[in-house]
Amino acid sequence: MALNRASRAYARRLMTMPPIVARSTATSSWSSCRVLGKSAGTRLYSSYPTPEGAPAAAKAPSQKKVTLLGLQNLYNSNTPITSITAHDYPSAVVAEKAGVDMILVGDSLAMVALGYNNTNMLSLDEMLYHCRAVARGAKRPLLVADLTFGSYEISPEQALESSIRLVKEGNMEAVKLEGGREMVPTIKKITNAGIPVLGHIGLTPQRSTSLSGFRVQGKSIEDAQALIEDAQALQEAGCFAIVLEAVPDALGRIITEKLQVPTIGIGAGADCSGQILVQLDMLGQFDKFTPRFVKKYAQNYETNVAALQEYVSDVRARAFPAEEHVYKMNGDILAKLQTSLGSSPDQGAEEASDDARK
Ligand code: KIV
Repeated sequence: MALNRASRAYARRLMTMPPIVARSTATSSWSSCRVLGKSAGTRLYSSYPTPEGAPAAAKAPSQKKVTLLGLQNLYNSNTPITSITAHDYPSAVVAEKAGVDMILVGDSLAMVALGYNNTNMLSLDEMLYHCRAVARGAKRPLLVADLTFGSYEISPEQALESSIRLVKEGNMEAVKLEGGREMVPTIKKITNAGIPVLGHIGLTPQRSTSLSGFRVQGKSIEDAQALIEDAQALQEAGCFAIVLEAVPDALGRIITEKLQVPTIGIGAGADCSGQILVQLDMLGQFDKFTPRFVKKYAQNYETNVAALQEYVSDVRARAFPAEEHVYKMNGDILAKLQTSLGSSPDQGAEEASDDARK
């Protein structure tokens, strides 16, 4: 396969890169010193062809419980990490069935599933309720929950208390929080208590008012440099991975190259170590707006409205329920009942199973 100039230059650089070695820090969740990548000198990112021209093969999802080490292994072997939000039991079940590595009970829940105008209105108690439902639906993926607005900004102690609630009451395995270097003491507090933290920089929806809306971040040199520093600070503080939201793809690539922990992109380009989307966005269920970074894999809003319209029209036309949807009474019992009521025996009474679900 022919490589374009940029790809050739990039491949050359990768071939000559020294092995990437993860720092050993006391606070990092991945604290041991490891060479990242089977052959770290030739570590490649998924959107680039291999030097031989063979694209990275998609691996069949493993059935094993995904742990931090499991994520690290995916990262080390340059296998893209797959992540999706789930906000309730059914969305967790399909996420697990589809083989995602990590489920985020994101506070996008507020807007796409609960109808709030922004994510800041969601309480920690509401989040906990949804976490429990998700945890009942999925066991294999790593389960991460968002710390809700107001539940972690006041102090590292408050953040740790909220994180403990997400683990103990919400059955989550890790927490996510928004913010850059100012969150370092908070991240250290939480990770020191043994709770893994996923960072989140770039477009941070909880701060959308300060950011003047849901805008792409890191477009100026100053903003891009600040985000690189934030990413490095979050890694040093012990984040096991960092979500990069709505940044130019070149910046997504640069940050990914600079870090020794995975980046999980949402609108940050194809070179991040993994990707995440809001499930109700990518299934085409949320009807208010669709960010540019969302690929709609289904059109559930239209499909569901059409299905419900058909139901409404069937009920009005008495076309539903049909014979196969009703329970039959034992013929003798029905005849006796009708006699006792003084009415004439009915036709077609035939007993069906007692189990209402069959
Ligand atoms: O709340 C959310 O769902 C998120 C995204 C990263 C998907 O934070």
